[in-house]
Amino acid sequence: MNLKTIDFGDADVLVLFGATGDLAKKKLFPALYSMEKSGKLNVNVVGVASTKWNHEQFVKNAFEGIRTAISEVDEEILAKLDKKLSLVVGNYEDPKVYQDLAAEITGKNKPVIYLAIPPILFEKVTQGLASVHLTEKCRLVLEKPFGRDLNSAQKLQAALDQVLPEERVYRIDHYLGKESVEDILIFRFANSIWEPLWNHRYINSVQITMAENFGIEGRGAFYDGVGAIRDVLQNHLLQVVALIAMEPPSDLRSEYMEDEKIKVFRAISTIKAEDTVRGQYVGYLDEPGVTPDSRMETFAATMLKVNNWRWSEVPFYLRTGKYLQETLLEVVVEFKQPPRLLFARTQIDAPNLLRFRLGKNDGVDIELMAKAPGDELSTLPVRLDVEFSAALGERQEAYERLLKAALIGDHLRFTRIDSVLETWRIVQNIINNDPHIYPYFKGSWGPEKAEEIVPNGWITL
Ligand code: BG6
Repeated sequence: MNLKTIDFGDADVLVLFGATGDLAKKKLFPALYSMEKSGKLNVNVVGVASTKWNHEQFVKNAFEGIRTAISEVDEEILAKLDKKLSLVVGNYEDPKVYQDLAAEITGKNKPVIYLAIPPILFEKVTQGLASVHLTEKCRLVLEKPFGRDLNSAQKLQAALDQVLPEERVYRIDHYLGKESVEDILIFRFANSIWEPLWNHRYINSVQITMAENFGIEGRGAFYDGVGAIRDVLQNHLLQVVALIAMEPPSDLRSEYMEDEKIKVFRAISTIKAEDTVRGQYVGYLDEPGVTPDSRMETFAATMLKVNNWRWSEVPFYLRTGKYLQETLLEVVVEFKQPPRLLFARTQIDAPNLLRFRLGKNDGVDIELMAKAPGDELSTLPVRLDVEFSAALGERQEAYERLLKAALIGDHLRFTRIDSVLETWRIVQNIINNDPHIYPYFKGSWGPEKAEEIVPNGWITL
């Protein structure tokens, strides 16, 4: 089925479960503000929450989030946004909250309902929506993680299948909303110079690092049931692997893209515990909400291979962690050395590197060899570097792009169920086994043991 060409039409209301929560405050309301500012918010936004707030408290909290995220806020835009906001309060376990919601959006035929709530509540809330017939017409947007392993993801999907079809489900992986991540596609498929090199003959390894120099930020109760592998590796990092490794789709429609991505996931064997190092930062056990003897990882490093023709034997190294030395999100493609080391006597032993910087100040840099100044015919590495916002203008925030896509019914930036199940299969071994967990200090690059994953060391440019 071609999801993009199904005409859902534009939504006529946006419902936000978890409207008083952290994600809504930090990401969703700032995104709605930007949409209002650019004239793209054409629907009312109905928040649903269990926190017993009145309209003023709700709006105050939302606007605090906007003011924190956006440097120069226009009061007129806030006032316009305020007029579009309303709140339904109730316990998600209580049928009344769904009746109240249905009453609040009476006459709306194309609601988009966004569940920005703990995944454990997805099934319950979906049933509640079904009880008032909203699942018969809504598009349902689900925050990640979708399940906590293969089994629970299948179970959740079976519950969704009972009440609404796949073409009305939008699973969020907000990395797919990042312009910097989408740029991988443009870089690879809108330029002809890379394709001949983009394979095992020229590429030695691919390293993907998502490092954060902060911790779990008060999310202990959530994070301790999840850990780094479920929180970001199974989703964000594997999606980046897919974009680096996939074949060009014949068309940019979501189905075609997903078809190519799933081929990549299928070609990845289930990651082995012996190729993985899990770590936990010292001090994690004292975080509020964390169980005192928790063995949950806040760091993971691993190696996988995409077992197809293009990527035969090329290792993809992935690492992520909280409280590391820096915050960065990057992919480093390491090319093979020239076949004959003509400059071996004086050469600095450095392969060509191509780095996608996907986090703040995103861009691309390429490390090349150049002639070192002086008498000798010797080499030195130089870097060609572009920062996209400086060269091309500011990027939009991921959540703004995701909300806009859901409101017009475009699946392109969302994950399809078969992909999600494949990615759970890939990490299944390493979340089921409970191997050693290595402590590491805040501000380090994780446990030393993680150095052993990459024979020539992690590349930091
Ligand atoms: C979220 C994770 O999905 O992504 C967080 O739950 C993580 O733990 C965040 O901090 C990182 O997102 P970004 O866009 O800042 O890289």
